[in-house]
Amino acid sequence: MVNQIPVPQAKYELLTDIRQPRWRTQVVCLTLTFLIVGVLFITRAWFGILVLRAPKADRFVEEQIDNAKIATWLRRARMYAESTKENQNADRNTSVGASEQYHRNATSQVIVCYYTIPWDLNTSGELSPSHIDPHICTHIIVGFASVVNSMLDIGDNAWVYKQVVALKNREPKLKVMISAGGNNELHDGFSEMVKTHANRKKFIRSVLNVTKTYHLDGFDVDWEFPAWIGADDREKIHFVQLLQELRKEFDRSGQKLLLTVAVAAPQAIVDQSYSVPEMAEHVDFVNLMSYDYHFYVWYFPVTDLNAPLFPRCTETGYLSTLNVNFSAQYWVAKGMPREKIVVGIPAYGHSYQLDNPSNHNLQAPASGFGKLGTKGFVNYSAVCQFLKSGAVSIFNKESRVPYTFKDREWISYDNEESIYYKSSWIRTSGFKGAMILSLNVDDWNGTCYGTNETFPLTRTISKGLFKESDSKPQMSIGL
Ligand SMILES: *[C@@H]1O[C@H](CO)[C@@H](O)[C@H](O)[C@H]1NC(C)=O
Ligand SMILES: *[C@@H]1O[C@H](CO)[C@@H](O)[C@H](O)[C@H]1NC(C)=O
Ligand SMILES: *[C@@H]1O[C@H](CO)[C@@H](O)[C@H](O)[C@H]1NC(C)=O
Ligand SMILES: *[C@@H]1O[C@H](CO)[C@@H](O)[C@H](O)[C@H]1NC(C)=O
Ligand SMILES: *[C@@H]1O[C@H](CO)[C@@H](O)[C@H](O)[C@H]1NC(C)=O
Ligand SMILES: *[C@@H]1O[C@H](CO)[C@@H](O)[C@H](O)[C@H]1NC(C)=O
Ligand SMILES: *[C@@H]1O[C@H](CO)[C@@H](O)[C@H](O)[C@H]1NC(C)=O
Ligand SMILES: *[C@@H]1O[C@H](CO)[C@@H](O)[C@H](O)[C@H]1NC(C)=O
Repeated sequence: MVNQIPVPQAKYELLTDIRQPRWRTQVVCLTLTFLIVGVLFITRAWFGILVLRAPKADRFVEEQIDNAKIATWLRRARMYAESTKENQNADRNTSVGASEQYHRNATSQVIVCYYTIPWDLNTSGELSPSHIDPHICTHIIVGFASVVNSMLDIGDNAWVYKQVVALKNREPKLKVMISAGGNNELHDGFSEMVKTHANRKKFIRSVLNVTKTYHLDGFDVDWEFPAWIGADDREKIHFVQLLQELRKEFDRSGQKLLLTVAVAAPQAIVDQSYSVPEMAEHVDFVNLMSYDYHFYVWYFPVTDLNAPLFPRCTETGYLSTLNVNFSAQYWVAKGMPREKIVVGIPAYGHSYQLDNPSNHNLQAPASGFGKLGTKGFVNYSAVCQFLKSGAVSIFNKESRVPYTFKDREWISYDNEESIYYKSSWIRTSGFKGAMILSLNVDDWNGTCYGTNETFPLTRTISKGLFKESDSKPQMSIGL
């Protein structure tokens, strides 16, 4: 079109190649097409980087993620799935060395509870700080603050931190900590901050200011994950530098602050993201995110367990590493002392939609997230309602966790029985304690059993962790 201005050009027609205008049109068209495709591609890629940072993993990138908490959890679950996809056929050494001797100090064991600040806290459907029972956890970690311009940013949630800290009036031994990460990670706050000494210094100053201002007992780093897929490999070193500098300044501050890290469970991410022995020198303990081993993604469209304690005998190679026992032992083998490992337990389940309601075992074909929950994350109250509605529950003896199904809905979850097994195992294995994610998704309102018992899952942890004489489940390893 641009080139078709026939009248003035008419007299030059004989001098020019008659085919040139058409040829030019084609070039222009092609260029335009490339430009449009290019722009689309770059937009898509940036969108992927901003929202998920692993665009190739997923076809759900375009989905609106309106719930900040779920966005973070979804991102982690997808990274875990991605690590499985990349490694399931890789030739990895999946045997961990013989366990060292350990001391069992039951009295110093901890119950770490995450409390995620709800998006719409002032609506009645969400757990508010005043409804937390201060006696069921030894530590409450409130999250998530962001890292913005190399500063810890608590947004407009100051009153939430104050209210959680106020729980200490009712339970003086309770420790309340703040966690950074979560939502923030969608914006690369950590990557920018750890890069230079000056940025880290600025950040640490802001952390100390926040802990002092709000009388917090410590700081939890929830960076998911340093140096992972597409990120700078040096982040692994910068991360250790950050921990080292945090520890040094914490010790100098006289505030007696705890330093903890929420760490990945999958072997591949542990190898890529962490220098474990160096981390061990600086942290009080790590919170092992031993859940999301399986959840629905299109490239694994089969039902499987969210947080199995042990592998099933049919699981071999890398798949045999996707369980709590392996992850925790692997952290020990990599150099984290047992007494610094706090093992994570999910209070939520993962839902799937079955292809065929009559095929409802493990590894049954699934076509998406279940109807219950948000993006497959189901809180325990909803699981409980589902069970009451007549769903069948099966306890997988090998893995020590249950799953439940009805019609096309299938959910892998943790209940009192599995949590009792896990916390007893934590005690007998000499780990530091248990962490639960999160108080918000436990049945905090006590609607489940009609007994008004609040936080039934979190309460179960102390039964397994502290009561050595209680012999309800047989802990016969190798059942
Ligand atoms: C695998 O790693 C363990 C230590 O974690 C080591 O003892 C064992 O020899 C390794 N196996 C192979 C085949 O490299
Ligand atoms: C466990 O107890 C032993 C002996 O009482 C003590 O030396 C050790 O420091 C304790 N460990 C922890 C992590 O408290
Ligand atoms: C929510 O309630 C708390 C106190 O109950 C109040 O301090 C806060 O400003 C409220 N937040 C919003 C967004 O209304
Ligand atoms: C909490 O429980 C009460 C009654 O026990 C009920 O009326 C209320 O709707 C419940 N709230 C939520 C958010 O489940
Ligand atoms: C410390 O925190 C307070 C309250 O959030 C803030 O007003 C103040 O500017 C901070 N000071 C520094 C030095 O960051
Ligand atoms: C737990 O992990 C350890 C170390 O890998 C292993 O020796 C042990 O057999 C595992 N236990 C079970 C029941 O799989
Ligand atoms: C639990 O999940 C159900 C279904 O997704 C939702 O309706 C309910 O509000 C949630 N309850 C809590 C306490 O978050
Ligand atoms: C549970 O609480 C509700 C309202 O708080 C009360 O009406 C009901 O009687 C309680 N149920 C039990 C079993 O205590």
